[in-house]
Amino acid sequence: MSAVGRAIPHESAEGHVTGEARYTDDLLDRHAGALHAWPVVSTLAHAELIAIDARAAEALPGVVKVLTAADVPGENEAGPVRHDEPLFPSEIMFHGQPIAWVLGETLDAARRGAAAVVVELRELVAVLTMREALTAERFSTDPLVIRHGDPEAVIASASHVLEGELEIGGQEHFYLETHAALACWDEAGLPLVHSSTQHPSETQLIIARVLGRPRSEVTCQSLRMGGAFGGKETQANGFAALAALGLQITGRPVRVRLDRQHDMAMTGKRHPFWARYRVAHDEQGQLLACELELFADGGYSLDLSKAIMFRALFHCDGCYRWPNLRVVGRVLQTHKTSQTAFRGFGGPQGALVGEELLDRVARACALPVEQVRARNFYRAGDLTHYGQPLRDAERIERVFERVRMRGDFDRRQAEVAEFNATHPHEKRGLAIVPIKFGISFTTAFLNQAGALVLIYGDGSVQVNHGGTEMGQGLHTKIQQIAADTLGVPLDAIRLMPTRTDKVPNTSATAASSGADLNGAAVELACLSLRERLAELAGRLLGVEPSALRFAEGRVEAGERSLRFAELAARAHVERISLFATGYYATPGIHFDEPSGRGKPFHYFTFGAAISEVEVDGFTGQYRLRRVDIVHDVGDSISPLVDRGQIEGGFIQGLGWLTCEELVWDAKGRLATRGASTYKLPSIGECPDEFDVELLPMAHEPTVVRGSKAVGEPPFLLALSVREALRAAVAAFAQGPVSRVELGCPSTAEAVYWAIERVR
Ligand code: MTE
Ligand code: HPA
Ligand code: MOS
Repeated sequence: MSAVGRAIPHESAEGHVTGEARYTDDLLDRHAGALHAWPVVSTLAHAELIAIDARAAEALPGVVKVLTAADVPGENEAGPVRHDEPLFPSEIMFHGQPIAWVLGETLDAARRGAAAVVVELRELVAVLTMREALTAERFSTDPLVIRHGDPEAVIASASHVLEGELEIGGQEHFYLETHAALACWDEAGLPLVHSSTQHPSETQLIIARVLGRPRSEVTCQSLRMGGAFGGKETQANGFAALAALGLQITGRPVRVRLDRQHDMAMTGKRHPFWARYRVAHDEQGQLLACELELFADGGYSLDLSKAIMFRALFHCDGCYRWPNLRVVGRVLQTHKTSQTAFRGFGGPQGALVGEELLDRVARACALPVEQVRARNFYRAGDLTHYGQPLRDAERIERVFERVRMRGDFDRRQAEVAEFNATHPHEKRGLAIVPIKFGISFTTAFLNQAGALVLIYGDGSVQVNHGGTEMGQGLHTKIQQIAADTLGVPLDAIRLMPTRTDKVPNTSATAASSGADLNGAAVELACLSLRERLAELAGRLLGVEPSALRFAEGRVEAGERSLRFAELAARAHVERISLFATGYYATPGIHFDEPSGRGKPFHYFTFGAAISEVEVDGFTGQYRLRRVDIVHDVGDSISPLVDRGQIEGGFIQGLGWLTCEELVWDAKGRLATRGASTYKLPSIGECPDEFDVELLPMAHEPTVVRGSKAVGEPPFLLALSVREALRAAVAAFAQGPVSRVELGCPSTAEAVYWAIERVR
């Protein structure tokens, strides 16, 4: 049976559960004499740095060095896109920002040293909210615009217009493994930095920049991550550069590993959003026009905020056709951590606003919202608001109708109505929501990947590629693709740690395209090796190479066959090269910013979910009773991995929309800095019943092995929970309500106030 499509466990599953799988910080035991780093952090959100006095700290036993800007030989700058993130700042831009780093013989010594560093700050006015930032005109980007049709004219003459605004909360990544880096010397006395990074090539670049070295002198390795979720797309760079700087200055290996409080206070999160809109519709709930303004709280620096805002603009349509739409997005600058990539990358925020609008239109028309949704679905032949044809538009209806059947929606809707009629203090809500998600980096040049595949004379294989493993199962899928293409057993394929000295200039493993891009590159490398081997095997077996079959560790043509290992040994003797690179670049994608037109995505994925909740009217507390999902992953390369991604993505989305709430106090200090104050979804928040189906007969002809990307899209399916809560809230009203305002995140408190409002 083919390795591709087989339901096998994650390639490190056993290591994950036994603790055998090693992570960056576990490599510390190989580096006797490594120094430990601890930050000196700002106690103000905005300030001028007047002076740092490290004398008392450096006099303490066990303190080796206090690193400051004066120690940087290269550029004191870690910004990935714009140069606006000094590694050692002179202007403090957020509460908890590292100002200096103390290196100690032990972690304890470094901590005591950090407490003894005297920092003099002059407090400046801090801008902490999006409204304040807008008033003060503090922007990190220009307005980004996509315009389609003539929304202003349609709204001006429409008889049904509604308007409003909506605020959406951010989200902490809460990967189990906090940021970590370990810098040591390689065999040539040059820096080798182990980093928990999604983007080793960029981490290498930032290290080289800070050290003032060419990139060829710096090697970066990402062994695996204990979760990343976008939080390590750019945010790991500074910590790796810091470790490398410590190594270069002291000559000793340096280890940085944040504790949870520092990780939460220092690193970027999902962007909070604020939306303002005007919508025109007819009395049947047909969407006519929309003018939408989106603001994102980008925090203090640009980071990836522009691309994130663009992805929000690309996803505010949801699965619905807006004949006239103008959406303008702008990133606001505040004195907070620099907000960053997080699963969905602005897409969830955009799609949430889209669903909010659909619900408002439906309630204004007093129509069932699922009917209004279906009425406005994109159809075959439609273009999105940025002009991309929706090649598979009919899949929206397919996933929607399929989950409606599997989840028994119509019968349960009647049951819920009956329950609500007989329960004055508890109400149930049911909602069905479809999603679409565009696959590709919207920055077109990032859509490329490389691989290096090595076959040894005994037939065993090493695979290197540019993607990083963060638990999502990329290495598992790559192993399946390589095994299947070469026709060898899975255990003949060894996946190597991701290193910049194997594949250069890689993109982040992000935008859900890790397997699409790296999988294609690995397949191409394996195909060129197979072609060379087939030519030789054809000669040895006396058949046409095209008649050969590579499978199960053998190369066969009818009765005649060879072991793959024999063939590899023979190829070596015959001086046939047994290693190959593969390179893949997604064809045909482009986007023109000034006109807001193009084809930013190679394709779309689709899914639909039904959620059912039960809400207590006295407290606003609720329970998720049942979730049904149908999700499109094309032909699944690895069904267990994909199922895990769908379930995990959904639950992470559920956390964002319901219980996870970031609170900054009046001084800009993040008040929610640990699991005790920041409520993560746990088993108690999971649905009592949870059914996930991979959409059958969903072959995607333009992607490796007919598959589709899966990492981020299922996150959006959790929007069904928000809409189910809204339905339950509405049921507390006497009769129909024309609007249900529901805070986001919809904590029990937010649900309680929503109930009060409809009452
Ligand atoms: N799954 C796990 N277990 N851990 C993670 O950190 N990150 C998500 C998703 N699934 C993540 C995950 C994000 S944000 C992305 S972009 C994709 O995985 C990246 O991997 P892929 O492109 O290989 O799907
Ligand atoms: N997704 C994730 N990361 C990115 C993107 C994107 O679309 N563009 C640039 N970095
Ligand atoms: Mo994922 S947010 O693209 O790393």
